[in-house]
Amino acid sequence: MKVVVIQGPNLNMLGVREQGIYGQMKLEDIHAQMKAFAQQQGLEIEFFQSNLEGEIVDRIQECVGDADGIIINPAAYTHTSVAIRDAIAAVQIPTIEVHLSNIYAREEFRQKSYIAPVCAGQISGMGPFGYHLAMVGITQILNELKMMKEAQQKAQQQG
Ligand code: DQA
Repeated sequence: MKVVVIQGPNLNMLGVREQGIYGQMKLEDIHAQMKAFAQQQGLEIEFFQSNLEGEIVDRIQECVGDADGIIINPAAYTHTSVAIRDAIAAVQIPTIEVHLSNIYAREEFRQKSYIAPVCAGQISGMGPFGYHLAMVGITQILNELKMMKEAQQKAQQQG
């Protein structure tokens, strides 16, 4: 099973950018930790970062037939992008939204997520650890789906 991790605009600047809010950890270090966890769980994992809304929409669409789960930090597009929300709704792949900062404790314009209603869940305010929590969450969701599919197949076989 495969998880695709999608990182939105300016997250390539983690570790440099507004350290008081986003911390000192670089994106590649977060990804290295996620990769280690994925390996432990026997999951395939792929990472994608873009500063462009359309590229993020394209990457979500490419998950059809390729990925079983998505972890996304849409960054600033969280608060503006109907296109990213529609792409997630369209592909029908379990998705977890992550934010390093607690978006509900920040400026009013950050307190609305266009993305959350089409996601299985949202993790906000846990810093880089939030990505680990998302990995735990998506692993659990994928295991449950797999067990459900297996039970359905068994029931069909038994007529
Ligand atoms: C963010 C929160 C967004 O409001 C902001 O635009 C980001 C990062 C976070 O991870 O806390 O770029 O998604």
